[in-house]
Amino acid sequence: MTEAGAGGLTGRTAVVTGGAGGIGEATARMLARRGARVVIGDIDPRAEDVAERIADDGGCAAFVRTDVTSEESVTALMRSAAESGTLDILVANAGVPETKAPLQDLDMEHWQRVLNINLTGAALCMKQALRLMDPQKPGAVVAVSSILGLVGQAGSAPYSASKAGLANLVRSAALGYAATGIRINAVAPGYVQTPLLDGLAESVRSQMLARQPMGRLGTPEEVAAVICFLASDAASLVTGAVWSVDGGYTAQ
Ligand SMILES: NC(=O)c1ccc[n+]([C@@H]2O[C@H](COP(=O)([O-])OP(=O)(O)OC[C@H]3O[C@@H](n4cnc5c(N)ncnc54)[C@H](O)[C@@H]3O)[C@@H](O)[C@H]2O)c1
Repeated sequence: MTEAGAGGLTGRTAVVTGGAGGIGEATARMLARRGARVVIGDIDPRAEDVAERIADDGGCAAFVRTDVTSEESVTALMRSAAESGTLDILVANAGVPETKAPLQDLDMEHWQRVLNINLTGAALCMKQALRLMDPQKPGAVVAVSSILGLVGQAGSAPYSASKAGLANLVRSAALGYAATGIRINAVAPGYVQTPLLDGLAESVRSQMLARQPMGRLGTPEEVAAVICFLASDAASLVTGAVWSVDGGYTAQ
């Protein structure tokens, strides 16, 4: 079943990176329900099950195993998605979480890995996707930044730096394409209940909850809804925005 209306995406092809679970899976499912043909790129082969479940529900989805840190792999993903026409939507969502540590103990391998996946990986995906998007047609890129790309948090330097870099990458890219049909935006989710948070200690989770104005974590679907809006023609005047989806966290 597909959903029609202003946010309808029938006939569009969308790539979602990091769609094996969490926000990426919810986004892939929602894009497909709105009529898009979805290609999921993830390093985790479980994304193939997500594509199968979307197809079982009547949507159109495929999986291409992808490492967003490899330009060769990203190029293959985008080419495969554009095989049957143009590429219309990219959701650059793949990411790895923070591992809290004081800056003086910064593990430079960890720093490089977080920057490679969260920032360089998203840039590679944008570069290769933009080459295949038709500048004369409506196209949309939505990157998944974070509240930690907008505000700091003690001990989260690599993650924060990667997500802040992503937010400004989006702003600059949006200006470069503003005169075309292609809009480029980011969402900045607050804490969302996904596998990314599963490993957290109960004490850390309680601290997180204590700082939530709404007194709860977000759901992947609440973030996916904003991503799908930004990807659709309903957001035709929105470009270069970093849209908080955080229950008021960054309003504090
Ligand atoms: N969960 C939160 O609270 C939260 C908050 C703000 C931002 N985010 C961001 O949302 C995005 C999705 O995270 P999530 O919470 O759904 O967690 P998640 O772990 O379910 O999703 C991340 C996905 O990225 C994939 N991935 C990791 N490295 C990859 C690589 N090199 N190549 C391809 N795919 C790779 C993983 O396999 C996984 O499927 C991330 O960018 C994350 O930083 C999450």
